[in-house]
Parts: sequence; structure tokens; C-alpha cells
Amino acid sequence: MPTEVRTEAKALAKSFGQNIESDLALEFVRVVENAAIASAHTMGQGERKLADEKATQAMRKTMDTVPMRGTIVIGEGERDEAPMLYIGEKVGAEFPDGQQVPEIDIAVDPLEGTNLCATGSPGAITVLAASEKGGLLNAPDCYMEKIVVGPSCHGAVDLDAPVRDNLKNIARRLGRDIDDLVVVVLDRPRHEKLIAEIRKAGARIKLIGDGDLSAGIAAAVIGTGVHVVMGSGGAPEGVLTAAAMRCLNGYMLGRLLVDKPELEERIHRMGIKDKNRIYKAEDLAPGKQLIFAATGVTDGALMRGVRFFGEGTRTSSVIMTKGTGKVRFIDSIHLENRPDIRIRFS
Ligand code: FBP
Repeated sequence: MPTEVRTEAKALAKSFGQNIESDLALEFVRVVENAAIASAHTMGQGERKLADEKATQAMRKTMDTVPMRGTIVIGEGERDEAPMLYIGEKVGAEFPDGQQVPEIDIAVDPLEGTNLCATGSPGAITVLAASEKGGLLNAPDCYMEKIVVGPSCHGAVDLDAPVRDNLKNIARRLGRDIDDLVVVVLDRPRHEKLIAEIRKAGARIKLIGDGDLSAGIAAAVIGTGVHVVMGSGGAPEGVLTAAAMRCLNGYMLGRLLVDKPELEERIHRMGIKDKNRIYKAEDLAPGKQLIFAATGVTDGALMRGVRFFGEGTRTSSVIMTKGTGKVRFIDSIHLENRPDIRIRFS
């Protein structure tokens, strides 16, 4: 190796981990890709638990090949309820020569939309967010009331405002009428009143069976046909959505729904003092360096699902980084190690 190349390689090795976004973003793509491939094998089998297990195992295994000292801050559950990717679990690999690896906090949803995968319905994804230590809120596994909108709607919505007022403000910012808005809502009995109010205001509604995280991402991207996501969904999904919003310049408000005494105790133990606090994306995912990675398991608005074609597998992913300001859509072909491999362009 020429001396100048060797010197540059040494300098790169020395600085490894100082910018976790550039050093680790593509590593995390491998993590979500492998989880997607593993769960996609179970698509339509009606086995949501199995689909989740496959994604979790593959995610865990691949994470242990990423040079980092990672801690799961949002995962599959508490240590005693989840065998893998539980909160507090350490993941990652050290360099054999002892070279320093970065300390990272990681939020995962190995399979967002377990039912969607189990029924072969659109919108299942594998997803994670990563940041420097302390860059992701350690949210409890409860519901969160959320509103998610795109970059033109910063400050246009309020969790306590009447639904009609929020929709009016969004419509004004987007330069359209309320009846041209599409609001995504999880199809749940708890949303009956919300749905009735949206209908009364005249907006269009897209009811989804699962997956308010993918819907949130769609709301922040022009051209997806989604303008706002409203209603309550998982708080862990809320933190992951917030990480995506920070990378996409979207706007989000969230408030934990703490309705049981044991939950109050739990959030107290987690250091959350005000259970009624309204969080913005910057509070849920405050990291200076933030990575958000997702791969489609089944077809969705932004990513295609996993396709198996005999000689290999094709995946479609998005990887976003906040500090370095990149949103990359990655179409990968994972080839089998065979001499007769052929690549098709599309
Ligand atoms: P899973 O990934 O665990 O299947 O969750 C999917 C989901 O629909 C999330 O997108 C959403 O935030 C949450 O479940 C809503 O919870 P619930 O099904 O209890 O209403």
C-alpha cells in the first residue's frame, strides 16, 4: 500500500466514532435489511410472533457485527419480558486491536406492523434509530397521543386544540382546503370520537390497521398523499417517529397516556417527572447526531417490500442522518454466492 494511502487509513481509523453518522449509517442499513429479510420469509403465514422473533433475532445478530458499544434504550421490552433486544441490553462489536468504538444509544422496533407482515398487508417495516448517549428518550411502553405533520406545518398544530382548528391550520399552511387533506388514523375503537370530528371538519381519512410510524414518515414527505397523522399509538413508535422527523424536518407533538397507577410508578422510576408534558420531536429524540434506518418488509408508500428471486434478495431501505443532512433511499441486491448470478436493472 502506498505510504500516503496508509497514512490516510491510519488517520481514518483514529477518528473512527467521532462522527457516528458517517461511520455507522451504512452499518445500520445492514441491520434493518437483515431483519427485514428474516421476517419477510414468514409473510402471510399468520404468525405475528414468529415474524417478530425472526426480525429480532436477525437484528440482534447483525448488531453484534457493528463496531460500537451500543445500549438498547427502546426495545422489545424490559429485561425480564424480552429475551433479546431488551431495554438496557448491550450490543455491538469491539475492534480486535482494541481501537476505540463509539458509545451509542439505540431504539429499535425490529418489526413495526407484526400483523401486517403476518397477513401480507402493506406497510410492515424494520426500523431503528441511533444517537450519541442520551440522544433518545427512554420512553415507557405505553400509548402516546400524537400529531405528526410535514415541514410546512411547524407550530401549526396543538394537541389540545379542537380537531377542526388543527385541520384548518394545516390546510392553510399547505395551501389547500380542509376537504383536500388526508388524515391517517389507526383504526381503533378508542379513536371513534376523533374520527367523527375529522369527518365533521370535512377532511378525508385513511384508516390503517397498524403502523403509525410509517404513516408519520409519509406525512413528512411531500407526494405521499398523507398530510397528517392523528391519534394515539405506541410511545416507543413515537420516539422512533421523532428521530425520523428530526431528519426530515417534520413537526410532531406527543404526550404520554398514563392511565394506570403502575404506569405512573414506572414513568417516575424512569425519571419522567411531568406525565402531562407535551413533547416535540427535539425532546423525544434530542440527539445531535441521529441515524434513522428502516427497510420495507411488505410494500409501503416509501419502500418496497422484500423480494426473493432465487439467486438473491432485493430490499428497499431509507437511511437518514440529522447532523450530516442526508436522506438516502437504498435499493440493495443481496446475492447468493453462486457462479451463475445475473443482475437485472429493475
Ligand atoms: P406492532 O409493530 O407491535 O405490531 O405494532 C403496530 C402498531 O400499530 C404501531 O404502529 C402502533 O403505534 C401501535 O401498534 C398501536 O397499538 P395498538 O395496536 O395497541 O392500538
